Amino acid sequence: MTTSTPQPVTVGIIGAGYVGLTTGVCLGELGHRVICVDNDPEKLALLRRGTPTIFEPGLEAMMQRNLAAGTLRFTDRIDEAVRESEAIFICVNTPPKADGQADLRYVEQVAKEIARALPADYRVIVDKSTVPVRTAEKVADTIRRYNPRAKEFDVVSNPEFLREGSAVQDTLNPERIVVGASTDRARTLMRRVYAPILSRTSAELCEVSIRSAELIKHGANSLLATKISFANLMAEACEAGGADAHEVLHGIGLDRRIGREFLRPGIGFGGSCFPKDIAAFRHTLETLGADASLITAVERINDHAYQRFLQRIERELWVLDGKRIAILGIAFKANTDDIRNAPAIRLMAALGKSGAIVTAYDPQATSKAKRVLPNVRYCADVYAAADGAEALVVCTEWDEFATMDLARLRKAVATPIIFDGRNIIDRAAAQGAGFTYYGVGRATTQ
Ligand SMILES: NC(=O)c1ccc[n+]([C@@H]2O[C@H](COP(=O)([O-])OP(=O)(O)OC[C@H]3O[C@@H](n4cnc5c(N)ncnc54)[C@H](O)[C@@H]3O)[C@@H](O)[C@H]2O)c1
Repeated sequence: MTTSTPQPVTVGIIGAGYVGLTTGVCLGELGHRVICVDNDPEKLALLRRGTPTIFEPGLEAMMQRNLAAGTLRFTDRIDEAVRESEAIFICVNTPPKADGQADLRYVEQVAKEIARALPADYRVIVDKSTVPVRTAEKVADTIRRYNPRAKEFDVVSNPEFLREGSAVQDTLNPERIVVGASTDRARTLMRRVYAPILSRTSAELCEVSIRSAELIKHGANSLLATKISFANLMAEACEAGGADAHEVLHGIGLDRRIGREFLRPGIGFGGSCFPKDIAAFRHTLETLGADASLITAVERINDHAYQRFLQRIERELWVLDGKRIAILGIAFKANTDDIRNAPAIRLMAALGKSGAIVTAYDPQATSKAKRVLPNVRYCADVYAAADGAEALVVCTEWDEFATMDLARLRKAVATPIIFDGRNIIDRAAAQGAGFTYYGVGRATTQ
């Protein structure tokens, strides 16, 4: 239900991907008027018809509601969005270059186009894309360079913390909203944008300097990635020392200063954010002359976690040539169709290269995976994927993998072996059903 907002803002969103589309749809839902811009004609055609180009729980219905209500529209015209909007959010992709630094070409391109369209009255340009410290200054410089008459604008940093898989929920109920601004005028407009959230949730508005806001985002993702790599380091120690990572990490995480979240070992983190953001932060640290060795270690341990998992499969199955292996879960995490840097994609490619016949099932990511790995046999459910398999390999923590009918699976497979890259399957239940179970950081039998 679209709510009425005391002082609606007209918001332009440049880049209608995971972040831009979710932000645009949610701001429309909160009562603002939203103009979403993208330069991908195929995406635009779908979006205009009310079909989201990504899978996010709750997004489709909300998007269709706001399109019908006229609070949301899609266009390829940045100039139109800049003319009509008070706040213009830059939500384009910031992919990594070969050396890890963020490729800011799309941000610069959008800044140039904003500059050319900027009218005489005041605008706030909001960096929502994840960018290195001091990018907002570069955006402002670019706008001035390409439009020397531009005076009435501020550039604000408003990093995004939504998690794919719960993006709508996170956007409407965030823990914090970080706004880095240098003028009261910009802060006032940003408060109006977020007033509908701040007035009905416990979200904390964190108003800081622009550079601090930029560093908060890279710092937060680097620390979360560090927790995952620490869990993977402990998992290796547990396997070598004969302990159980599940028990050990639970015991460690009970300390409230540490916390349980993200202390989960597995096949390593993937996705479009952590690998890219920590690489960009490493590059930033190096550029600033700071010690980046912590981040380098996090990256190394993450890769090692994947390699250890692959080696475990190779060691246990011995000859892979001609063996049928079922991959359960392709998306980089549950509740999304995003396969960017997904460990499953890397694993399927490696197993296929070794001669294995790979079958795969994912509740949402299959159509994206088909474009990247067309030679895999994609199945409609876990049981079809498991049919005749000599091993099941869990790569994504989808809930349905935790509740599979293990007796039915046992009948479907040729040999009953589970490699659980997410420690999501009940080990005792799997063993009870006749499977040999390999988790991460857990002894095979105990
Ligand atoms: N995906 C996430 O979970 C997440 C979370 C927080 C922050 N971020 C950050 O947000 C930014 C966007 O990420 P994303 O995952 O939404 O990316 P995405 O690739 O899904 O979307 C980017 C969109 O921008 C469009 N675009 C690129 N250049 C354009 C231009 N010149 N004009 C108009 N449209 C243009 C692309 O067509 C694409 O639709 C990145 O910096 C990312 O690091 C992402």
